[in-house]
Amino acid sequence: MLICPLCGEKLVQDGKSYICPNRHCFDMARQGYVNLLPVQNKHSLHPGDTKEMLMARRRFLETGKYLPICQAVRETAKEFCKSENPLIVDVGCGEGYYTRALANSFENSRTVGIDIAKDGVKMACSRGKDITWAVATASLLPVESGSADIVTAMFSLFMDGEYSRILKRGGIAIEVNAATEHLMEMKEVIYDEVFPQDKKPSSHDETLFKRLYSQKHSFKFHVNNEELKDLLYMTPHLNRIKEENKNKLLQLEGMELTAAFWVSADMRL
Ligand SMILES: C[S@@+](CC[C@H](N)C(=O)[O-])C[C@H]1O[C@@H](n2cnc3c(N)ncnc32)[C@H](O)[C@@H]1O
Repeated sequence: MLICPLCGEKLVQDGKSYICPNRHCFDMARQGYVNLLPVQNKHSLHPGDTKEMLMARRRFLETGKYLPICQAVRETAKEFCKSENPLIVDVGCGEGYYTRALANSFENSRTVGIDIAKDGVKMACSRGKDITWAVATASLLPVESGSADIVTAMFSLFMDGEYSRILKRGGIAIEVNAATEHLMEMKEVIYDEVFPQDKKPSSHDETLFKRLYSQKHSFKFHVNNEELKDLLYMTPHLNRIKEENKNKLLQLEGMELTAAFWVSADMRL
């Protein structure tokens, strides 16, 4: 189901390489992923999340505190996907927590996890060799047109054009994004002023997608000091806040937090 990022032809796996009919060849890394991000599409040396962010995210997600988010996306996938052996593409998969959970939701799925951050994809490989892991950009997905049953964007970019291109007609795009109240208690500590923002689920091109479902979910959870630090380090907030506010947060023994997020499902027309 992978295509060549240089010419768009189908890639065929030959041992530890993927090769297209035009002889463009991409070797699999030792960890088991393939790098399908052409240099011209790599706009910085290390695009995407940093290793520090990815490691913090892995530690935090492994605590199970975001399990309700995982369950919500799995239930949405099960409810709206008609295929029994779907091709699932998780775009912006990070270190692969949700990709693994999505793959586990179906008995016979084929799953691809894609992220622009090489360190993320490297880490994700430890979540299973049954998943195809690729470094690539959401703006040029190395996936055959009309092949996917489910495409997910978990707290990551949703690209109408590319998502609709790779989805089958009737296929489902699932998006999870933060709602207004998400981690509000933490934001109140790390920002001098929290400006009210009304975060809504994003809307998509109505000629390409039909909205099937959009629901806000929320739950409370408690974090200890270590988890609070990981939560801060896995978000972009870290780079936006003053050192003194960061220290104020990191001095806390723990905190009661709200997770609030939108889950949306859109059908490819
Ligand atoms: C907030 S993280 C979410 C990671 C994962 N979905 C999760 O929820 O744990 C966003 C991810 O999108 C990736 N990303 C950013 N820009 C991207 C792009 N243009 N193409 C693919 N991935 C991208 C980042 O490297 C990062 O891993």
